[in-house]
Amino acid sequence: MASHSLLVLSMILVLHSIISMASASLSCVLQCESEVNLHLYLHQIASGPGTNQVVIVTSSKASDFGLTSVTDWAVIDGPNPATATIVARTKGMQVQADVAGPGWFNYFSMVFEKNSRYNGSSFEAMGINFQTGQGQMAIMGGTGEFAMARGIIKYNALPNPPTFQTIKELNIHAFYVKPADTTSGGAIQ
Ligand SMILES: *[C@@H]1O[C@H](CO)[C@@H](O)[C@H](O)[C@H]1NC(C)=O
Repeated sequence: MASHSLLVLSMILVLHSIISMASASLSCVLQCESEVNLHLYLHQIASGPGTNQVVIVTSSKASDFGLTSVTDWAVIDGPNPATATIVARTKGMQVQADVAGPGWFNYFSMVFEKNSRYNGSSFEAMGINFQTGQGQMAIMGGTGEFAMARGIIKYNALPNPPTFQTIKELNIHAFYVKPADTTSGGAIQ
């Protein structure tokens, strides 16, 4: 009789803990993530008409260690700037952050503009560019539709760009949590 009561009691305890676990997980609200893949191009113009980067700190080192520029590169939807549409701009900075050089630390807000369905939303990205032509940047966050973004930007410089220019193919892959209300979704106000 005693062991029967003990068995019933144990079963009640086990059931209780299972139900507690279930209600604990039910009380968490899991938001669905969205995934996006974008194939775009970055157009950098260091000098001449349409210049979109400017040196703000010069360097006396042979490697240009410390050289810093503010950048507002155009993000276009095709490899030819003459025919492509600007869909975003990368507003940020690049710093030569490698003593031996070159190693450019880039960080920017990629703010989408009116010709994009993501108008007003942004990706926040950073990464190092060793001037090998290829590399990756991390997407650390985002705003607007791209709230809570995380992902990666793989880039690959196209050969033979116009003088003082660089055109990089971008493969952007990110996960984000689209807010229920994106009407106020803008970049940093
Ligand atoms: C793009 O976003 C800006 C700022 O949020 C807004 O003023 C503008 O009307 C939008 N343009 C289009 C075409 O959606």
